[in-house]
Amino acid sequence: MNAPLELRPAEMLTALVAASSGSERDYLDAARATLARYVAHPALLDGVPLTRTPGQYSRNFVFGDADVSVWAMVWPAGARTSIHDHHCSCCFAVLSGTLAETYFEPVGAGLAQPRHQALRSPGFIACMMPSGPNLHRMENLGTAEAVSLHIYGYDHRRHASSVANEYRHAAG
Ligand SMILES: [Fe+2]
Repeated sequence: MNAPLELRPAEMLTALVAASSGSERDYLDAARATLARYVAHPALLDGVPLTRTPGQYSRNFVFGDADVSVWAMVWPAGARTSIHDHHCSCCFAVLSGTLAETYFEPVGAGLAQPRHQALRSPGFIACMMPSGPNLHRMENLGTAEAVSLHIYGYDHRRHASSVANEYRHAAG
């Protein structure tokens, strides 16, 4: 018996790819809809082997083509990214656990100052465009593992990651 439509990752991702060649709004709508399906049906990731590295987040490839790549991130306690911005669109959802996201502002050559921090709980979905404020750090400040799903507007065969620049935390 076929799985219900919302449980067919291949068809869902095909729709996402189709939207990636449309308007920015169409693409972001499709990315949000895709993330919402994973939030509602975390079992969609059952076929994806998730790696785990103590103290560090791990990136697990889910799907990719020339315009879009999808990654599941596993965040053990204490894992965090650098302070970074993106060269492409970045949409993500928290599937389990809680992540802290801190937005930064550039304050000099390679330096950034924190401006705002928020806790992202399961079901949270956000999209950032490369043209908007997108300088941030994500981290797991809790004790339980967190899992998030990310949809980026880049070709994983051409770019190592979505990160454009990394920054140092400005003192004070
Ligand atoms: Fe990021």
